[in-house]
Amino acid sequence: MREYKIAAIPADGIGPEVIEAGRAVLSALSERRGDLRFTFTQFDWGSDWYKKHGKMMPDDGLDQLRDFDAIYFGAVGAPDVPDHITLWGLRLPICQGFDQYANVRPTRIIPGITSPLRGVGVGDLDWVIVRENSEGEYSGHGGRAHRGLPEEVGTETAIFTRVGVTRIMRYAFKMAQSRPRKLLTVVTKSNAQRHGMVMWDEIAAEVSQEFPDVTWDKMLVDAMTVRMVKNPKSLDTIVATNLHADILSDLAGALSGSLGVAPTGNIDPERRFPSMFEPIHGSAFDITGKGIANPVATFWTAAQMLEHLGEASAAASLMRAVDRVCEEGILTPDVGGKATTREVTDAVVSAISGSNSLD
Ligand SMILES: NC(=O)c1ccc[n+]([C@@H]2O[C@H](COP(=O)([O-])OP(=O)(O)OC[C@H]3O[C@@H](n4cnc5c(N)ncnc54)[C@H](O)[C@@H]3O)[C@@H](O)[C@H]2O)c1
Repeated sequence: MREYKIAAIPADGIGPEVIEAGRAVLSALSERRGDLRFTFTQFDWGSDWYKKHGKMMPDDGLDQLRDFDAIYFGAVGAPDVPDHITLWGLRLPICQGFDQYANVRPTRIIPGITSPLRGVGVGDLDWVIVRENSEGEYSGHGGRAHRGLPEEVGTETAIFTRVGVTRIMRYAFKMAQSRPRKLLTVVTKSNAQRHGMVMWDEIAAEVSQEFPDVTWDKMLVDAMTVRMVKNPKSLDTIVATNLHADILSDLAGALSGSLGVAPTGNIDPERRFPSMFEPIHGSAFDITGKGIANPVATFWTAAQMLEHLGEASAAASLMRAVDRVCEEGILTPDVGGKATTREVTDAVVSAISGSNSLD
């Protein structure tokens, strides 16, 4: 029996709804297989905690999380707390404190879910976006001067380091190498941003020498949005900066049917700290409490977590169950169905429990 200690941080909005659903399918998987077990410890950090304590998590939050095998995260964001406080108070300190520098965002069209792209179906869009997750535009470097005065200035400085860019390029080339097409697109903006982004391009070219079997190309981020829409089949693995990949992966989620199916893993590739797995979406105020949040992204990120823990066969079983349920048309309203979060979850639980094969 292999046991994994998971820290669950459901946080805000629909976060608790989808994390509860995710825990239910992971428990079903553990019961069905009998060879792995998860012990969850739930942390009630988030915006409600902030309203009581003036911070999103306790000062020793990272110490409390350090010894877990993985973190299963919902979403942050509340209508009455500024977004920069929720994001910088919980999610980013975990990503940065645990040096989860590779943010991995797989996208594909799940059977039964319709892409808004005409004529694009299952197999036509199958990407992994690798997002630099520790520096770049989200380094938090900058400031404000002459606050409130007409001459007020605000700066937001993007930081690119040779160490940071080299390690994400290497991770992305390795990811591309591990996939059948061995194809990588490096997203850049070095036409307009001539310092950090030019270094980004140069390091991509240097690292490519270590991976002669990977075919790669370079694409300006603006042109990339067009290529994603017009020629999705031409892409496979994609690497981009923190900001660029943040935006492109929302587009990727929408092109695959809904943000509600898009997962992400915040990975520490060196495994010094726990990695964190979450749906890409936010706390979705507009549907909170209605019981209709799509739990598929949270199931898919659970599969990413299993893969990271070395449980590839359990991850594959989980994704097979998700595919089967979606293909049967048991879908939440964001992907054109009428099912509730609970109905989709129950269907995935029974697909797992009734499955004949463990592989
Ligand atoms: N990682 C995070 O925690 C994260 C990410 C993005 C936004 N946010 C925060 O979330 C809050 C709301 O932001 P937003 O509205 O820009 O983005 P959002 O992702 O919360 O919602 C965007 C739209 O997608 C829909 N949606 C999202 N997830 C869904 C799901 N699982 N099922 C069905 N529909 C879903 C929502 O109903 C909404 O219409 C803000 O406070 C923002 O800062 C947090």
